[in-house]
Amino acid sequence: MTQTSFELKARDGRARLGVISTPRGEIRTPAFMPVGTAATVKGMLPESVRATGADILLGNTYHLMLRPGAERIARLGGLHRFMNWERPILTDSGGFQVMSLSGLRKLTEEGVKFSSHIDGSKHMLSPERSMEIQKLLGSDIVMAFDECPALPADRKRIAESMRLSMRWAQRSRDAFGDRPGHMLFGIMQGGLERDLREESAEALRGIGFDGYAIGGLAVGEGQEAMFDCLDYAPELLPEDRPRYLMGVGKPDDIVGAVKRGVDMMDCVLPSRSGRTGQAFTRHGVVNIKNARHADDPRPLDEACSCPACSGYSRAYLHHVYRSGEMISGMLLTWHNLHYFQQIMQGMRTAIAEGRFEAWEADFHAQRAEGDI
Ligand code: GUN
Ligand code: ZN
Repeated sequence: MTQTSFELKARDGRARLGVISTPRGEIRTPAFMPVGTAATVKGMLPESVRATGADILLGNTYHLMLRPGAERIARLGGLHRFMNWERPILTDSGGFQVMSLSGLRKLTEEGVKFSSHIDGSKHMLSPERSMEIQKLLGSDIVMAFDECPALPADRKRIAESMRLSMRWAQRSRDAFGDRPGHMLFGIMQGGLERDLREESAEALRGIGFDGYAIGGLAVGEGQEAMFDCLDYAPELLPEDRPRYLMGVGKPDDIVGAVKRGVDMMDCVLPSRSGRTGQAFTRHGVVNIKNARHADDPRPLDEACSCPACSGYSRAYLHHVYRSGEMISGMLLTWHNLHYFQQIMQGMRTAIAEGRFEAWEADFHAQRAEGDI
């Protein structure tokens, strides 16, 4: 009895509708996971995040091990209890964040030694330690420990890095062991090189995971190159397991990824942009700091039912942004997360009804109108 499962309910072209079941609840796919890096989705209460339609949050091994510490969170009853979110949590494994955020670091076969971006203190992560931390956190979906070079990188560096990540994937699998109710996902690497992606997928399939992520994308290669990779990468992975595209993306990236067979995604964009005055709407991006909103009595989006749109004008949102009021980031983050989840729900319904293509055409048509 594994207590977790993935059921594919419908397909439309390469887009897939499914449900991941865990003891902490169901995750409807395609799923967008809001990012709660430091045990909070910044500016949002957990019940508000749930109200936007999120089934699962993402947490980060790297940040939580440094502050407040995984052992401390475990003593306090685990991450769900700590942050008051009882539904599923996926945790990233740390290697990717070490490479992008930490100070001095030393990468070896064993793992990576690094200094904290917070206080310079010295730490180590390895597949074994990452599995241990994610267990202490109580994560429902644990990510294998991997490494990924920034693009552009030369082929040799990408190949060596991918092979190291595949050896780490095996060590992650061994260290994770058998944990009913929890899932372990492997992470495909290989940059934009098709044969390296194939080799990586082959290695992961040989090890065997509960789900499979596509890593190493959205690292500066641009949408066209990413879509070229997604034209073949998802199909290299087992059909009957969830496929997770890490760190993506803007609304049109998300739609393009689902169209190509991706089931899960995460991104800081809706929450981070909410704090910098950017709102995503059906018609495109609204920069609320722009002076042209100062006298505008209309909501951000007339068709949106979120609290920011049902209770406040653009003029108000502009005012609180300009005044540096806390409610500015709160309202815009709520709106953005609501909008992202509306996109996901729209795609899920469209796939169920076999009209994904028409839904996608409408999605792009509304954006082209550009009346924002
Ligand atoms: N987040 C975005 N891309 C990646 C990746 O390639 N690996 C991991 N672990 N996390 C990511
Ligand atoms: Zn709204």
